[in-house]
Amino acid sequence: AASIDGPAALAAEAAAAITRLTGVDRHDIGLTLGSGWGKAADVIGETVAVIPAEQVPGFHVSGVPGHSGTLRSIRLASGKHALVIGARTHFYEGRGVRAVVHGVRTAAAAGAATMILTNGAGGIDPAFGAGEPVLISDHLNLTAASPVEGADFIDLTDLYASRLRDLAREVEPALQQGVYVQLPGPHYETPAEIHYLRMIGGQIVGMSTALEAIAARQAGMEVLGLSLITNPAAGMGDPLSHEEVLAEGRAAEPRLAELLSRVVARL
Ligand code: 6GU
Repeated sequence: AASIDGPAALAAEAAAAITRLTGVDRHDIGLTLGSGWGKAADVIGETVAVIPAEQVPGFHVSGVPGHSGTLRSIRLASGKHALVIGARTHFYEGRGVRAVVHGVRTAAAAGAATMILTNGAGGIDPAFGAGEPVLISDHLNLTAASPVEGADFIDLTDLYASRLRDLAREVEPALQQGVYVQLPGPHYETPAEIHYLRMIGGQIVGMSTALEAIAARQAGMEVLGLSLITNPAAGMGDPLSHEEVLAEGRAAEPRLAELLSRVVARL
């Protein structure tokens, strides 16, 4: 469809630039590292190249503290290559959904069959404590947006692949699972909104991931989603600050990096 030529062509250009700048023909795994997950890039394998976002078509340097502005190519011990999308664009930055999912489409164009999406998120379900990683089992996309353009009626069953969730639980059997809610942000929710989200089945809340997961499915990738609970959502604990979210993320980083290392080693 003509409407998809734009974003697909831009992703293909980005993938070509990545191949040229890294010397790596094909990346097998795409990884987006959210708050608390960044250290994984240092431990999952050997860094082949770190590329500033502005050298790759369609990427922008994020103005959000805690998010890096680079893409990184990593060679795993298995010989596979991972592409770490450090330059994530959030929906609330106002660049549109195409910019939000460009990293995912680029990973797909670079050859990736697996997309790992991670984030820092608020806990709605009281079973999820701050500092814990939780597997995303499904999502509620409450952004009122879609990355799918035109009449492409994409099935989203088992979007967060049960095969990959099972694999993650082989690594860490105690990993809990929950339904992730993506809201537009950038403000956090009111206690009344969290009460509502809880009633409709939401267990984790954040400002990313769902739109990217949909784009990954459209591109034919298998998706693994992981949230770090950085704080209880509004009304479920103490009031929120972005600094606290970042601090909780830093404290959990070594454990999360180890978890991701062991997961990607099994892909
Ligand atoms: Cl409580 N809400 C949202 N939307 N995003 C978050 C969060 C809460 N905590 C961390 N990120």
